[in-house]
Amino acid sequence: MIRLENVTKHFPGQDHPAVNNLNMLIPEGEICVLVGPSGCGKTTTMKMINRLIEPTEGKIYIKGQDTATIDAIKLRLDIGYVIQEIGLFPHLTIAENIATVPREKGWPRDLINQRVDELLTLVGLEPEKYRHRKPADLSGGQRQRVGVARAMAADPPILLMDEPFGAVDPITRARLQNEFLEIQAQMRKTIIFVTHDIDEAIKMGDKIAIMRDGKLVQYAPPGELLSSPADEFVGRLLGPNRTIKRLNLIAVREALRSDLLPAVPSHLSSEEARLLLKGSKFNVLAVVDRRNSLTGFVRGEQLKNSSVVPVSEIAEPSPNVIEAEATLNEALSLMLGCGSQFVAVVSKKGEYKGVVTLGSLLELVKEDVKEDVA
Ligand SMILES: Nc1ncnc2c1ncn2[C@@H]1O[C@H](COP(=O)(O)OP(=O)(O)OP(=O)(O)O)[C@@H](O)[C@H]1O
Ligand SMILES: [Mg+2]
Repeated sequence: MIRLENVTKHFPGQDHPAVNNLNMLIPEGEICVLVGPSGCGKTTTMKMINRLIEPTEGKIYIKGQDTATIDAIKLRLDIGYVIQEIGLFPHLTIAENIATVPREKGWPRDLINQRVDELLTLVGLEPEKYRHRKPADLSGGQRQRVGVARAMAADPPILLMDEPFGAVDPITRARLQNEFLEIQAQMRKTIIFVTHDIDEAIKMGDKIAIMRDGKLVQYAPPGELLSSPADEFVGRLLGPNRTIKRLNLIAVREALRSDLLPAVPSHLSSEEARLLLKGSKFNVLAVVDRRNSLTGFVRGEQLKNSSVVPVSEIAEPSPNVIEAEATLNEALSLMLGCGSQFVAVVSKKGEYKGVVTLGSLLELVKEDVKEDVA
């Protein structure tokens, strides 16, 4: 856990402090994303955590210990740092750059080599090809990825990442984000992450800290930020389509309705199904097998026109089916793609759970829309 208490940094000759009375708590194992305009104090905040910059006032605690009382060099060995300017050592090879902290910590050579290759692979650079190159022989985006590998090398419990994916193309960036989130789910490091990309912040952050002129404007989980921005500045930063962004953060299961589209077991007859149809909002029934797996749909017209047959004979498959763990944004895309008012929801194993409807999505985002119009 990292705690900032009334932290202020006043550089000599500055009219306003670069960081102004910052109070923040970053829980252990979470990603805190710092967002804000250029010059608002993000890098300064990070550098005060690993004591590359000393605060003018206030205290910073790591796991309850005042960092001012820890030897700065020792402190930095346990805090991985991805520097905004990348900052690789130009005369060292890529492998030597990544190995800096493990070597400092006295790791055995074999373990270091193994770790270097593992990290290069992780950031998408083939070890055989890149291990022995010098930083000057890499592109900016590749250098940045080496910077990420170097920060993670000795497996530090804390990572400070200053725009770590800023210089890579959108496709590589999305891949790095996903892989980083996947390993973070296991490694549970405490991370402070700076970005200028609000979508990246929403995707990566357990919490997002919005800064302006050295002050903390809002500090909240992405969903809360999107549903209730503290002021107009935060609203503008989040952009006009924050309702859609919010749909990305809500799982389909959270908007699930189990009462709007009844299921009919496939061995029942079309006549029995007709009775059930009265309970359906959409004049459709979900057809399930004996294990409650969704096998298709029957529409009212099919039932009306058919002679008495088992439902399984007239059921039809449909593309508008989604897993409960998908996001509401994906559900909405599917509805728009199928021209349908609902999508049927199934569990990972294919069991029928109910539906999400366009109406329920509208209900959910109504408050946001009202605010945006106002
Ligand atoms: N060593 C320094 N001496 C004097 N002023 C500084 C120093 N370092 C930073 N500043 C000033 O402090 C303010 C905050 O700088 P900081 O680097 O923290 O901004 P930032 O939020 O990281 O911006 P960016 O998004 O552009 O990286 C800026 O006005 C900057 O000019
Ligand atoms: Mg900066």
